[in-house]
Amino acid sequence: MHLLSLFDVNATQITHMLTLAGYMKAHPASFQNSLKNRSIAMLFEKPSLRTRVSFEVGIHQLGAQPIYLDAQMVQPGQRESVEDIARNLACWTHGIVARVFKHETLHKLSAAKIPVINALCDVHHPCQTLADLLTIQERYPIDMKVVDILYVGEGNNVCQSFMVGAAALDLKLTVICPPSYGPKQSFLDELQQRYPKHKITIGTDLSAVKHADVIYTDTWLSMGDSRDYQKTCDIFAPYQVNQALVKRLAATTVMHCLPAHRNDEITDEVMDGPISAVLQQAENRLYVQKAVFHHLFEESSQL
Ligand code: CP
Ligand code: NVA
Repeated sequence: MHLLSLFDVNATQITHMLTLAGYMKAHPASFQNSLKNRSIAMLFEKPSLRTRVSFEVGIHQLGAQPIYLDAQMVQPGQRESVEDIARNLACWTHGIVARVFKHETLHKLSAAKIPVINALCDVHHPCQTLADLLTIQERYPIDMKVVDILYVGEGNNVCQSFMVGAAALDLKLTVICPPSYGPKQSFLDELQQRYPKHKITIGTDLSAVKHADVIYTDTWLSMGDSRDYQKTCDIFAPYQVNQALVKRLAATTVMHCLPAHRNDEITDEVMDGPISAVLQQAENRLYVQKAVFHHLFEESSQL
């Protein structure tokens, strides 16, 4: 049982994890020893603040030991194969949290038969989406299905994961990206196959969107992407989340997974303003990831 993407779980399981995460948030002392005497390897090929710290703190709070492995030290695929790294980690540890350049690396790690959790790859960022869904649920507790959600920016890993979560929970989502910067066709095909009745609209024209309760954006240039940043900013400038957009759409929440390039994809005024949920999203990473561990270890009958 792994969490390589949100395609690995269904709506019931996502809802269960969100409920569990909410419970863990309200009862910080709960589940203190549920991973007692376990060790979790954390292999990171890219930089991180939120993911690394929230995972380490969460693993510690569940009674287990996190072991951070810098990819420069382990050198996956260079010093030894990814599969050999995973098989060795399975000799001593009980799960692998991995932030990797290529989604395929996660499949190689999952050869080890201990749970693997995607901490961001080129295609998905499932733990971020779970935190985002918990955040939306907290802010619109009556029914998430009536909330109009707009994602504006690049159709990247964060966007694609959010699309899977939205499709699973039957949420209303509009995705607006500059032409040629939308979600990948291979991803869209998989989404369509898995959730043929999803309520996601994809477009390029931000002016065509008349209302959104929630506006979500992310960086215009992801880690590992070699595009020229200035040229990217020129292309994406009309898609900036600023006060004029918030006002025009009558939005009540603005989201960003962070890190942000302030005053590029999101202005200071909005990010630091009264409807910003960015720190709520960051905080919620802790609780949803603890719930993910519980879900995976419960499924593997390791609890
Ligand atoms: N949102 C997020 O994953 O942040 P980090 O890259 O700092 O982990
Ligand atoms: N899309 C961003 C998310 C960072 C958390 C990236 O991949 O760099």
